[in-house]
Amino acid sequence: MVEVVHVPLEGRAYDVRIGPGLIERAGAEIAPLLVRPRVAVVTESHVARLHLDRLKAGLAEQGIEMVSLELPPGESTKAWPEFSRCVEWLLEQKIERRDIVIALGGGVIGDLVGFAAAVLRRGIRFVQVPTSLLAQVDSSVGGKTGINAPQGKNLIGAFHQPALVLADTDVLNTLTPRDFLSGYGEVAKYGMLGDAGFFEWLEVMGPKLLAGDQEARIEAVRRSVQMKADIVLRDETEQGDRALLNLGHTFCHALESATGYSDRLLHGEGVAIGCALAFELSFRLGLCSQEDPSRVRAHLREMGMKVDLSDIEGDLPSAEALLDLMGQDKKVIDGQLRFILARGIGDAFVTSDVPKDVVLKLLKDALAAR
Ligand code: GLY
Repeated sequence: MVEVVHVPLEGRAYDVRIGPGLIERAGAEIAPLLVRPRVAVVTESHVARLHLDRLKAGLAEQGIEMVSLELPPGESTKAWPEFSRCVEWLLEQKIERRDIVIALGGGVIGDLVGFAAAVLRRGIRFVQVPTSLLAQVDSSVGGKTGINAPQGKNLIGAFHQPALVLADTDVLNTLTPRDFLSGYGEVAKYGMLGDAGFFEWLEVMGPKLLAGDQEARIEAVRRSVQMKADIVLRDETEQGDRALLNLGHTFCHALESATGYSDRLLHGEGVAIGCALAFELSFRLGLCSQEDPSRVRAHLREMGMKVDLSDIEGDLPSAEALLDLMGQDKKVIDGQLRFILARGIGDAFVTSDVPKDVVLKLLKDALAAR
């Protein structure tokens, strides 16, 4: 059973197809997009070991030839050196303007390959085959592509929508529980920011998702992608509503920076802690009831996720230093920090109107509880 979320952007509409076995059927899925039976696949070595042969076989079934490039795994790949290696390799492979490049991997590969496709010969089409939960529900959809700069994450890039997304839910069975839960941080975020009913559903179904319930996983990915597609349609280039997708991210980016973007804190773990802090901040500002941050925390805890700063191993900087790191967030406008706060679960909004002393006190209290 394949679920389809259509993203009807004018002139750049595409489908996100969600379900089991899509990698094995990639040839049939991708063939209608091709003008010649040849594709270039860019992946990373860990994902290649798990999924590249299946993709190759799936393409070969439709007579599609595949060349592939394996980059090293990890966030450090998302930078100029591997980016230029990827672009030059695509040129060496004589990938033409009307060809398709496939990004097989998690968020790092999807972002890097999407950006390579955006600039190669002034823009060619690409297909996302996301192999992490985080990539399936967030980074593969919506067209944000790019690489990191020494000055910060995702500071170099382009909006370039994929031509197709194949979210094969079988790949989720190959994730470690920690990686699955990291992606779940983004899933829960959708409920918290815009759909109280989805959050309620997750409160009931979350443990089943974690235990491997396939139907529940497909439904969670479908609802997440549908919410993201709806927001991207309203605001593709993040002039307004798209910033809602950054619920928890202002705190998360500061914590990721403080932990050196290492495996001390995975992105989705930082999002979960950031969401808990954003709801606590919303409560302290009188925007929502105390029950809301309590429910958020209780659900994340039940899922076995990181919720508090004390769940991050090792030292953290002072509250002042964390606030300073938050000031380097991309969402800062004219020196003003922007937060995504909530009037309740499923009712988030964007604001710059947050007194710094309240944020500082929140961070001090969170650090003191360590
Ligand atoms: N990950 C946030 C966005 O796509 O806007």
